Amino acid sequence: MNEAAGATRYDETYARWRRDPAAYWSEAAKGIAWDAPPRAAFDPALGVYGRWFPGGRLNTCFNAVDRHVAAGRGAQPAIIWDSPMTGRIEAMSYARLQDRVARVAGALAARGVAKGDRVIVYMPMVPEAAIAMLACARLGAVHSVVFGGFAAAELATRIADAKPKAIVSASCGLEPGRVVKYKPLLDAAIGLSPHKPASVLILQRPESPCELTPGRDEDLLAAETAASPHACVSVESTDPLYILYTSGTTGAPKGIVRDNGGHAVALHNSMSMVYGANPGDVYWAASDVGWVVGHSYIVYAPLLAGCTTVLFEGKPVGTPDAGTFWRVCAQHGVKVLFTAPTAIRAIKKEDPEGLLLKRHDLSRLEALYLAGERCDPDTVTWSERLLGKPVVDHWWQTETGWTITGNFRGLGLFPTRPGSGGKPAPGYDVVALDEANRELPRGQIGSLAVRLPLPPSCLPTLFNADQRFRDAYLSAHPGFYSTADAGMIDEDGYVWVMSRTDDIINVAGHRLSTGAMEEVLASHPDVAECAVVGVRDTLKGQVPLGLVVLKAGVTRGEAAIGQELVAMVRDRIGPVAAFKDARVVARLPKTRSGKILRATLRKIADGEDYVVPPTIDDPAILDEVGDVLKAAMR
Ligand code: COA
Ligand code: AMP
Repeated sequence: MNEAAGATRYDETYARWRRDPAAYWSEAAKGIAWDAPPRAAFDPALGVYGRWFPGGRLNTCFNAVDRHVAAGRGAQPAIIWDSPMTGRIEAMSYARLQDRVARVAGALAARGVAKGDRVIVYMPMVPEAAIAMLACARLGAVHSVVFGGFAAAELATRIADAKPKAIVSASCGLEPGRVVKYKPLLDAAIGLSPHKPASVLILQRPESPCELTPGRDEDLLAAETAASPHACVSVESTDPLYILYTSGTTGAPKGIVRDNGGHAVALHNSMSMVYGANPGDVYWAASDVGWVVGHSYIVYAPLLAGCTTVLFEGKPVGTPDAGTFWRVCAQHGVKVLFTAPTAIRAIKKEDPEGLLLKRHDLSRLEALYLAGERCDPDTVTWSERLLGKPVVDHWWQTETGWTITGNFRGLGLFPTRPGSGGKPAPGYDVVALDEANRELPRGQIGSLAVRLPLPPSCLPTLFNADQRFRDAYLSAHPGFYSTADAGMIDEDGYVWVMSRTDDIINVAGHRLSTGAMEEVLASHPDVAECAVVGVRDTLKGQVPLGLVVLKAGVTRGEAAIGQELVAMVRDRIGPVAAFKDARVVARLPKTRSGKILRATLRKIADGEDYVVPPTIDDPAILDEVGDVLKAAMR
């Protein structure tokens, strides 16, 4: 396909969606097996801004697993677990996956889990994590997966909010050089949460089994073996499939809700349209099931499409080296690889000439997709040069569950522009707005927003928090969903995402709230006030830096206080926060009305141009703190 023809097919498809979104999505809905067809593609009268596929009934697990077995794919690998952390590589067929999922669903049902009940899944990158998710989907129960790198207090917040009937977990996770014992974290979290789960199922890993708490904990595999397989439970299209908590601007995470019908339709459609992946293809999202990329592209989308998905327990470097990603691609015949730019930067740092890459036969790899953070052009061009394949940067969020902008292999690729996240996917009307809600001319930077309604799979609301949903996403720009990203759309329709407009930072592709870290720092007895800023980092994109002003009269050494602060963030939020640097400053720059100039600090820390706000109290303080930030950039 030449580029001009590619651009035409994209333009045509986008125009077709624009002309008649209901017809476009009704067509896409044919890719899903419905127990009862939807009465309409969209009903604007339902929910906060309308709901997709009302009246439709389906089961997401049936669509992801059972129907492929029925269609003759039973022997095809559904999941390839590749774990350099344990030295194990195991393929699981669709037939075996169906049996295991049905039994785990049976085990959960036997412990009282039914349609609508929540189940927390707190697991490392093992097949049982995907099995637990699918087992919930099979029952119509709502899973909420919590990333393993979070601390007990974060897990507790999620248990308290989701009120799960059961928790599925494992005895440990494996990080390079370190076994992460989950059980003490789990016990502490359950202890902290006012809500207690009735039942806990634990996967005992040979690397570090744990003691089970009598009367509450049971062995997951034993429960699975003893259980009877459970059938798929038909649910409403608009019933929730899962809740995924993501960082908000405060310490209280937002429970992003995903429904069954819209999610299945959009994700199934995305596999061929966005990635050009078809039934039988091997697809690998090198992420973690705890993140949205893991939900959508390790578990649901590849399985909905009848692909083989790779579930990888390892790191891009150090397990054992920077050639691991290429080894996995070659060994399993990966057609499309999806990862975060950070992972590629880490590989590039260790293997700049691609010597390890050249040791592997990558003839079956057709494209690399990147997302999760802003991607520097150098990372795109480096990987394109070494791989000799298209490298696509695409922009999306936990809230959307699939890409907002990108480049679409299924429609023929148009030329990419490194630094841009591509063009809007059919389904998204993306605009750049000014503060008065006016659409900005092409080329001008503003708040990136999506005209309502959002397409299928995007969040209909926040869990038990419609008003918070309206306040956080719909109120700044009436009629639009605010992405909280700033950027611009160029003359040719490419979208350039520059930075967040809130206090979310992106550390190694992990989305974190500086507000949550500030809450931790502020609780230290010696801290009078503080700010946490994401400082530019060549490997991780950003890393958090804590700036603290000590209370008058504190005479303890700065180093000791700094260490305590680092330990507190690790203990309360988790190692994933990568909070390693807290510095004492004499003062923080403020407006005359006493507000800390966070937006200006953010710009300095990101190496962006900034203007000194006219409302500043004392410009000298901004200079002092600016010097600290510049010195911290790496
Ligand atoms: N369970 C427990 N701890 C975890 C964890 C998990 N699932 N994942 C990460 N951590 C810990 C790490 O062990 C590390 O702890 P440490 O401070 O004791 O070293 C800390 O959290 C930070 O981890 P990480 O962000 O992975 O940094 P790193 O320095 O260990 O590795 C990279 C750097 C670039 C290799 C790594 O960040 C990476 O693979 N990035 C890709 C990101 C990605 O896939 N994002 C998903 C969105 S698409
Ligand atoms: P998450 O919800 O963890 O997926 O993080 C979403 C945020 O990551 C977005 O709001 C952006 O700030 C950032 N992001 C994700 N993908 C991209 C991309 N391709 N380009 C720029 N920023 C991105």
